[in-house]
Amino acid sequence: MFCRISGNKSRGKVIAKTVHSDMLWRCEYLILGMLLLAELTQLGEAVTANQQRRNRRLRSDNGTKRLTGTKNQTGIRSNRRQGTARKLSAKRVNQNKKAATSSKIQSRIVGGTSTTISTTPYIVQLRRGSNLCSGSLITEQWVLTAAHCVKGYSASDFTVRGGTTTLDGSDGVTRSVSSIHVAPKFTSKKMNMDAALLKLNQSLTGTNIGTISMGNYRPKAGSRVRIAGWGVTKEGSTTASKTLQTAQIRVVRQQKCRKDYRGQATITKYMLCARAAGKDSCSGDSGGPVTRNNTLLGIVSFGYGCARAGYPGVYTAVVAIRQWATNIMANN
Ligand code: ARG
Repeated sequence: MFCRISGNKSRGKVIAKTVHSDMLWRCEYLILGMLLLAELTQLGEAVTANQQRRNRRLRSDNGTKRLTGTKNQTGIRSNRRQGTARKLSAKRVNQNKKAATSSKIQSRIVGGTSTTISTTPYIVQLRRGSNLCSGSLITEQWVLTAAHCVKGYSASDFTVRGGTTTLDGSDGVTRSVSSIHVAPKFTSKKMNMDAALLKLNQSLTGTNIGTISMGNYRPKAGSRVRIAGWGVTKEGSTTASKTLQTAQIRVVRQQKCRKDYRGQATITKYMLCARAAGKDSCSGDSGGPVTRNNTLLGIVSFGYGCARAGYPGVYTAVVAIRQWATNIMANN
């Protein structure tokens, strides 16, 4: 249209208006422009590809990748949605941080130790097909978990299992879910307020099954908290732990965590960060408990990779969702 071949004038008002008659575009310019455009597009694609690589990495760190297993190890994966992962990783990544620690192989949660359900009687497995999350029993009929584990699914998709040390759950007690209540501010893009309550079809009681109460305080920076779960024992691993793992980590100052995640995630008051060298929660641990003195202070939510230096695990601050949770349980 803008290319004037062998001196023919363009016709039509629009073109006549847009292009000054004495400086009509010439084919050469157009071709040059197109070449430039092609070059730029290629550049753009390279950048996108790069971002996608990063996204994949973060996503798998957070459990979207399918975890497969043998007969004994149920194949599991967490329910982490892609939205946040994309958001988290599409942004600038500090290269120094990226180089960090995941190569240190640890045999538990990541860097934890084996434990039995009797030490953590309030933890339950939350299964949806081959997907795994955890939760905590707040009352005999209510489980607190991460919203990202359940949002978008229906109650009948899930099975809750308590009183089990093992991943296969043969020693446990199973319940189904009758209703799901996702925290009002939760979005999988920002992972803010990552909490959900599940009402069980009937009370979950039995050997090594107990409840835990929600803490009414935010643990101080530096204080020790405990995490537990059947998630993978190494970043990038696809096999869940056959037995319950636990690790002790320390609360990170909110300001510090904000800086750590700057450009990747916004750390809000609904979040709580905690870490320890070589220890972290990982894929499959989501929804599980962060405790101190048998009080529930956090819910496993997300992280950049697992146990990477400079990237603490991010947990839902129970103190911030407590009022919401109390109301839901009272009215349902
Ligand atoms: N979102 C993960 C899950 O679905 C939990 C990730 C926790 N990551 C971490 N580095 N603390 O199981």
